[in-house]
Amino acid sequence: MSSITLTDVTKSYGNVQVIQSFTGTFADGEFVTLLGPSGCGKTTMLRMIAGFEKPTTGEIKIGDSVVSGPNTFVPPNERGIGMVFQSYAVWPHMDVFDNVVYPLKIQGVKRSERKKRVLEVLEAVHLSQYVKRMPSELSGGQQQRVALARALVGGSKLLLLDEPLSNLDAKLRETMRFEIKNVQKQFGVTVVYVTHDQGEAMAMSDRVIVFNKGVVQQIDSPMEIYRHPANQFVADFVGKINFLHGVANEGSIELAGGQRMAYSGDRRGPVVVAVRPENMAMRSDGGTLRGTLTHAYYLGDTNDCRVDVDGTSLRVIGAGNTFGQFATGAPVWLDFDEYLVFEDDGQDQTAIRT
Ligand SMILES: Nc1ncnc2c1ncn2[C@@H]1O[C@H](COP(=O)(O)OP(=O)(O)O)[C@@H](O)[C@H]1O
Ligand SMILES: [Mg+2]
Repeated sequence: MSSITLTDVTKSYGNVQVIQSFTGTFADGEFVTLLGPSGCGKTTMLRMIAGFEKPTTGEIKIGDSVVSGPNTFVPPNERGIGMVFQSYAVWPHMDVFDNVVYPLKIQGVKRSERKKRVLEVLEAVHLSQYVKRMPSELSGGQQQRVALARALVGGSKLLLLDEPLSNLDAKLRETMRFEIKNVQKQFGVTVVYVTHDQGEAMAMSDRVIVFNKGVVQQIDSPMEIYRHPANQFVADFVGKINFLHGVANEGSIELAGGQRMAYSGDRRGPVVVAVRPENMAMRSDGGTLRGTLTHAYYLGDTNDCRVDVDGTSLRVIGAGNTFGQFATGAPVWLDFDEYLVFEDDGQDQTAIRT
């Protein structure tokens, strides 16, 4: 059983509380991602699960065993956990085989069995042909695969990954996402993955936990997080979004710039209308709001535009083949296909950066 249950877990350093009370269960075989900006407490959470940090209060269970509680503390090496960090934690003086076999030696596994298991796991991470290479002869991505293989080889059913792709170049980062996901499925491990990269979180996770300043903002599937963000922070952090301030009345929202849009929801008073760039289309006639096309950037697969609506610049993204339909400077209508209305919490949430 490799579920993880955290109950009322908090962490303070001195009198600074970096994790507010967290309660949640990560299921056996689940891929859970802790997502949030730098400094929000992701690594601290992971280190508490691993046993490198003691929670200030609360209890952590792995399967049915308490590993951390008021009267219990199981050290990291007895928690049956594999870990991979951002920096390449491979031993430079050992070749790939020796790096990966190490946990099996510690466990006292027989030599013939060791070889079989190392080769099996190296195959899974596509390193079979590099068995005798030294780390200095490997790329960053290959070194991270060595670290992943070493975390898996011992048979841990629980894998904790802390920004393992952050040091890789963009293209490799994207392929590695899918590889990690495949390896997770193949070995049937529970993964807790830490990242500040929402694309990684979306691509791999069964559930995403969005943190901000040590406080959980939302726990949901990637699709729910994207389509139904719990608040403005989540809406802004995950994906691209535009915010328009206004006041909701019965039947309509009066936007700060003066235009009105139809509204059938229940909110009243100050609101923020949140709309993703791909959920608006430009039309020559008839739509939700009027504006002026100020910029259009042809990016091949997309047409990335800015439309000025009463002084607010909105980002509108259409398919690449919509480029050129409107000249810059042309008046356009924006048709909203899907949008959200949040209560305006008065916080200075940045709208989209252009
Ligand atoms: N050992 C420590 N002593 C004091 N403060 C710490 C310590 N480790 C982390 N912090 C603080 O806790 C907060 C969360 O840090 P961290 O978990 O590393 O964030 P993240 O991984 O999300 O970037 C930060 O404000 C950080 O400065
Ligand atoms: Mg961190």
